[in-house]
Amino acid sequence: MAYAIVNGKLMDRSEAKVDIEDRGYQFGDGVYEVIRVYNGKLFTLKEHLARFEKSLASIRINLPFSTQELTEMIKQLIEKNNLHTGIIYMQITRGASPRNHAFPSEVVSPCLTAYTKEMPRPLAKLKSGVNTILAEDIRWLRCDIKSLNLLANILAKQKAGENNCYEAIQHRGQDVTEGSSSNIFMVKNGVVITHPSNELILKGITKDVILQHCRNLSIPVEERVFSLKELTAADEVFLSSTTSEVMPVIEISGSTVSDGQPGTVTRKLQQAFEQEIVSQCGNLIESTLA
Ligand SMILES: Cc1ncc(COP(=O)(O)O)c(C=O)c1O
Repeated sequence: MAYAIVNGKLMDRSEAKVDIEDRGYQFGDGVYEVIRVYNGKLFTLKEHLARFEKSLASIRINLPFSTQELTEMIKQLIEKNNLHTGIIYMQITRGASPRNHAFPSEVVSPCLTAYTKEMPRPLAKLKSGVNTILAEDIRWLRCDIKSLNLLANILAKQKAGENNCYEAIQHRGQDVTEGSSSNIFMVKNGVVITHPSNELILKGITKDVILQHCRNLSIPVEERVFSLKELTAADEVFLSSTTSEVMPVIEISGSTVSDGQPGTVTRKLQQAFEQEIVSQCGNLIESTLA
């Protein structure tokens, strides 16, 4: 039997239900996190919980549990579901209340739901790299909040899929922001360049791990806005996310990145990332680099 958490309670997943007037369901009034699990162990848990709490505070929802209680709940869910390699998805909405845009005037308890999913590492793609397509970034101006409102991201990802691409690289005018569900990096003359973590992008947990490894490996980093023109002239491009790790990008809207092969800086960072997984979660069955 698969288990899920609803309103903080562990239950049979097939019986997990939410109210039709839940504000997450009606307005996307909530936030979420996706955390990677390798060998049954949570990767960068502390960082994900900190971001979750920050997102909640930004939309003025109080976490109905302590961080310790939440940690115990999700660990229990992983154990109950016998999850080895996959993800845990969790979200909190403002709760259920008669439909009205403004916050409910009565006291409503926020609704926490969570479930797990087996998901292997995308090893073949991590080796070969992926194709991407450009898409205008039409999102709101608080992309730093990991909100349930993902319509613009959905449209961008759909565009990618319809063009046989793995991801859409979004841009506001000439400025590259981030992927529909990932952060974007380019490498030029040995320097790793990526959008600053401000309100126009999500501050990726994977992005921060990568930037830390750049520092450890003495790879120079510039966190600054870069243009589509710079992106097309890059020596290497890669994207990052909890599920995609350090993913080489070999094509953008039909144009090959450099020689069409994952670059050396990307490979170094993939290696460092794998070491980070091993140090937090134990040995991996298969490596990207094998
Ligand atoms: C819009 C967006 N940017 C970046 C990321 C990468 O964030 P993380 O590395 O924390 O998974 C995601 C992840 O889903 C995302 O949805």
